[in-house]
Amino acid sequence: MKSADATMPNGAYHQREKAGVPNEEMLRVGPGTPGGEYLRRFWHPVAMSSEVQNLPKRIKVLCEDLVLFRTRAGEVGLVRPHCPHRGASLEFGIPDDCGLRCCYHGWLIGVDGKVLEAPAEPEASPYTKDLYHGAYPVKEYEGLIFAYMGPTEEMPPLPVYDIVARLKPGQRLIPGGWTPGRTYHWPCNWVQVKENAMDPVHTFYLHTIASGAQFTPEFGIVPEIEYKETPIGMVYIASRKVGDNAWVRVHDLIMPNIHIVASVNEDGKAEKNYGPPYLMHWATPIDDENFLEIGWLIESEEMKFDQAMIEKLHFGMMDDRPFAERQMAPGDYDAQVSQGPIHNHDREHLGVSDRGVTMFRRMLRAGIDDVRNGKDPKGLNRAEGEVIATHTQNAVFKLGEPGASETLKDQLRNAGRRVAAGEFRC
Ligand code: FES
Ligand SMILES: [Fe+2]
Repeated sequence: MKSADATMPNGAYHQREKAGVPNEEMLRVGPGTPGGEYLRRFWHPVAMSSEVQNLPKRIKVLCEDLVLFRTRAGEVGLVRPHCPHRGASLEFGIPDDCGLRCCYHGWLIGVDGKVLEAPAEPEASPYTKDLYHGAYPVKEYEGLIFAYMGPTEEMPPLPVYDIVARLKPGQRLIPGGWTPGRTYHWPCNWVQVKENAMDPVHTFYLHTIASGAQFTPEFGIVPEIEYKETPIGMVYIASRKVGDNAWVRVHDLIMPNIHIVASVNEDGKAEKNYGPPYLMHWATPIDDENFLEIGWLIESEEMKFDQAMIEKLHFGMMDDRPFAERQMAPGDYDAQVSQGPIHNHDREHLGVSDRGVTMFRRMLRAGIDDVRNGKDPKGLNRAEGEVIATHTQNAVFKLGEPGASETLKDQLRNAGRRVAAGEFRC
């Protein structure tokens, strides 16, 4: 929608931005904010297991400073940083068999926050009877540490997704960010990267035209795109004609902050029912203006993470190239972080090609409202032990002859719908 001020030539003077953050509810993540309370109903990965070994690690999640630690017995804990005795930071704590011992006077804090020992206090001290330091539940799963920071009585089971629980022969999970073994900290609001995940237009523009073919040249073929709501979030379906084939690429966005990406080695030339995903990722908010990209890479026959592939995946995902080079060949980091620490939605002119963005925002608003009204938001699963079905894949098959009065657009849409409906899953 264009404002009156945006219809004037040379009109920058009249287009001053207003103070404040439009759509603040969905962008702020701190305790007590509507968006923050919503996000606190879900488990979020906060670190790779490999990052928490002998020494505690100070982290920030959802605007809260915390200390993550591993006991000598191998259990992981997540606690507020200041020791409940006199406030020394527990990042200087000493891991013990069953907790973390403060460096200052030796109080011992268990993984659930219980004060287990207060060495200089009398044996009958009330502090070792029932004093709990602030702690959050954590679970370690497949090399990642997940935290739940919501009300304990609302805690759901840790969700388990099919692509992780049912690895196919030749597949292996590797914790990391955009590349194996390394998470990525981006200085912008978490919503920006999730909107990008539902914006396949950027794949053929930014990743193929603006910066040269980053993946296969076939990514530069303009796809027919559809979006569909799923039980856990939404998918985009991008269908391209490659020779006689339909190449359909389906990507999940799982509410609120997970996305899954299909192999980027695909060129649509060889027929296949199921080309697997290579990435399942959370954007875990650090605060309103920073997030951590963390999850698993899924190695398969189709995507091996050799040095060349790691360089390809890392390209444009940080600010570690000379600036002029980034200007000449920008990447995801440049496009999304440059939207601003908190992208100002008042600046936008969303079009029909931004349907994925608007659908995601609508679901986000609905989820925030659900939590406000005491309901479970979409994406939250309470069925213990259920393996949750996802939809991400590449599929390549013969497009066939068009039916009477069927256009190529119709054919591609129909091909896309068949894949999204699960016809080509195995
Ligand atoms: S401040 Fe931690 S034991 Fe005293
Ligand atoms: Fe991208």
